[in-house]
Amino acid sequence: MALVEWDPKFQLGIEQFDLHHRHLVGLLNALYEKYATEQDDDATLRDAVSDLTEYADYHFSVEENWMRQGGYPAYEEHVLQHKQFIFKLVEFNRLYRTDKEHLSLEIIAFLRRWLLDHIVQADGKYGEFIKR
Ligand SMILES: [Fe+2]
Ligand SMILES: [Fe+2]
Repeated sequence: MALVEWDPKFQLGIEQFDLHHRHLVGLLNALYEKYATEQDDDATLRDAVSDLTEYADYHFSVEENWMRQGGYPAYEEHVLQHKQFIFKLVEFNRLYRTDKEHLSLEIIAFLRRWLLDHIVQADGKYGEFIKR
């Protein structure tokens, strides 16, 4: 079973936005799937973490461009949330690569919680703003 089943409440009604978020959820599910089936294969898990980090970085920069161009008032605050998430991922990648830490369910649970909360709340607010 997938870690996250796509739910209509994640949908903001902005096509490009929603496609990106679906892809992010897909990468998170892929990471979880690999964790569940190939726990011993560090290289595979590292690749899955890197894929998620790279795509999140790409998605955030596109999202931030839209927000800047649309004059979104909560822009700064939103960017800060993105930065904190990437910082955590990079930090986690670093620890993981130097073998000080192992991929754990807690980390996967953190990623899941952050992503879903961020999409529903922070991105949701932007979705409301852009529709007005
Ligand atoms: Fe987003
Ligand atoms: Fe965002």
